[in-house]
Amino acid sequence: MGYPRFRPRRLRATPALRRAFAETSLDPSDLIAPLFLKESISSPVPIAAMPGHHQHTLESVVKKGRELASLGVAGVLLFGIPARKDAEGTEAWNSEGIVQRGLRALKEELGDEVLVIADLCLCEYTDHGHCGVLSGDEVPTVDNDPTLELYARIAVSQVAAGADIVAPSGMMDGQVGTIRSALDAAGRMETPILSYATKYASSFYGPFREAAEGAPREGDRRAYQQDPANVDESLREVALDIEEGADAIIVKPALPYLDVVRAVKERFGYPTAAYNVSGEYSMLVAAAEKGWLDERSAALEALTSIRRAGADLVITYHAEKAAAWLA
Ligand code: PBG
Repeated sequence: MGYPRFRPRRLRATPALRRAFAETSLDPSDLIAPLFLKESISSPVPIAAMPGHHQHTLESVVKKGRELASLGVAGVLLFGIPARKDAEGTEAWNSEGIVQRGLRALKEELGDEVLVIADLCLCEYTDHGHCGVLSGDEVPTVDNDPTLELYARIAVSQVAAGADIVAPSGMMDGQVGTIRSALDAAGRMETPILSYATKYASSFYGPFREAAEGAPREGDRRAYQQDPANVDESLREVALDIEEGADAIIVKPALPYLDVVRAVKERFGYPTAAYNVSGEYSMLVAAAEKGWLDERSAALEALTSIRRAGADLVITYHAEKAAAWLA
């Protein structure tokens, strides 16, 4: 028998063979679409750094939610941008706040067709742009424990407004446990927490800060988000969140952190989402606009790679386009 006896190319020869032997699938039902809802605008405002995306009005967010549901995505992840910001971010738990109105409107339109997930953080609501309340005059730092108190209020108000799931993204210690207790005390034992358990202090959030208007006015987030150099730390973060009652885990960002996705999935075997963040989207779209990459094939490859690394769900700004391509 001459070499080669085994020819790996046999299973690659036709589309039918390739499809049959693909190890990873990518379907619209694997995708979650982030949406930005801004108070007091009268028509959608394009986000320059994220071509194809807008800051939505109540009306346009519902329309977009309807389109996404028709495409079969798993869910939408809602971010609110209030008209009024203050030091504590009080609009975040206002029952008539922009995100609460958005949640009600989306649920009314979509019912249980897709998951309506509320991002739970303070940076879009505070005037200083940090993810929690500040203390200390000389060098202000985000004060962990008083912030937890506020997260608890936000969780209860978001769920009262109809959120199917809350997704705390502020990276405060103990946030999952605090939110779980608050939801349970409010009779919402059945509402899941999708925890941004492992979230890095990443440069790839740049475009999002234009979209959500939540950039820190001073300083950065490195005292609460993780150092990109670490992975053992992520496993500790995930272990803590599971202990505190997280139902599912987010790793964020996705593409520069696929090793983290893999490590988390292997170690815990927990439902895991990866957040393919704004900068990952913008890079790809910018290269495509220059004619340097084919957007469709590059985006589908990137999303498939995130699934291959172990993500059950991918939160992505490519959700709408990818769902349409995959239809
Ligand atoms: C804020 C938040 C951020 C993102 C999601 N929630 C920004 C940040 O932490 O600075 C980034 C998402 C993206 O870049 O797509 N808690």
